[in-house]
Amino acid sequence: MSRPYNFSAGPAVLPETVLRQAAGELDDWHGSGVSVMEMSHRGRHFTSIAEQAEADFRGLLGVPDDYAVLFLQGGATSQFAMVPLNLMRRGRADYVNTGSWSKKAIAEAQRLGEVNVVATAEADGFTDIPAAETWQRDAEADYLHLTPNETIGGVEFHWVPEDHHGVPLVADMSSCILSRPVDVSRYGLIYAGAQKNIGPAGLTVVVVRRDLLGWTRESTPSMFDYAAHAKAGSMLNTPPTFAWYLSGLVFRWIWDQGGLDAMAARNRNKADKLYRAIDESAYYRNPVAVDCRSRMNVPFVLHDPGMDGRFLAEAEAAGLLNLKGHRSVGGMRASLYNAMPEQGVDALIDFMGDFERRRG
Ligand SMILES: Cc1ncc(COP(=O)(O)O)c(C=O)c1O
Repeated sequence: MSRPYNFSAGPAVLPETVLRQAAGELDDWHGSGVSVMEMSHRGRHFTSIAEQAEADFRGLLGVPDDYAVLFLQGGATSQFAMVPLNLMRRGRADYVNTGSWSKKAIAEAQRLGEVNVVATAEADGFTDIPAAETWQRDAEADYLHLTPNETIGGVEFHWVPEDHHGVPLVADMSSCILSRPVDVSRYGLIYAGAQKNIGPAGLTVVVVRRDLLGWTRESTPSMFDYAAHAKAGSMLNTPPTFAWYLSGLVFRWIWDQGGLDAMAARNRNKADKLYRAIDESAYYRNPVAVDCRSRMNVPFVLHDPGMDGRFLAEAEAAGLLNLKGHRSVGGMRASLYNAMPEQGVDALIDFMGDFERRRG
């Protein structure tokens, strides 16, 4: 029986082959006699799983040797606090405000230091990214934080800000990591909650340049200190072992698909198709400026919002799940992460055309 297509923004669709593999080795991992969930995180079996996952992740993103890769808990939301706790050496940082997730990151950083919002797209309803020339950057900032993909608004940077007096770039890549190649060396720190393109919820991946570590205040609890996690190989305490293992299977799957270049080509193709269908229709609309439309999260509204409930119910009956937009913006949202096959996007486009003909 074929599975429905899951357009959830996160936790999100995982590759079917990964789910099958995990199911096949659930009660006895590679003849060890136990499941991954039951083994010691310090034993040889889990050590091999953890090391392979890190090596595959590093290879996919081309993470340079002078960067640590940390497998943590607490979600990207914890990173909103851990970043300033660890990197605000002088007590001030620059933030770009491109939507709901930027705002949350800003609010947390404001509890810990001085935040300079270098640019905000709030007046446009977060449908655009202010041009870099207009940003009011601080040459003395401890870092510049941005959200390369705003999961709710569907706004994505298709460029990386230029270096500014060596101020490290910090990026919340929760909803775009592994969707395309990234030049990690242009960033001081990258973080991402796993539950979109990496694996199950519960794991948070942090990639950080080692020279930025070790500046936390004495009073910082060790669980919030990157240096402590790096020193302990992300095993300061019991890590989320099953999520780490499953993420490792996803990394292998991405390699099997051809790596991040192949992912980027597939993702561009899927998103282009859907935006084309939206733009060619008078019934559906996407409000985001064309040059900063997200390839991962495509929000759209119906000409008649009174039909939203019917659209969602009929979509679900047609095997197209979780298309409801975020509660803060309404409308629809189709998330097209790596594991969403092109056939899923084709099925959605067909359904949208059919719905428009019948109800539009
Ligand atoms: C861009 C972005 N940042 C942060 C978060 C929050 O992540 P978490 O729920 O893992 O704390 C999300 C969740 O959807 C997100 O999309």
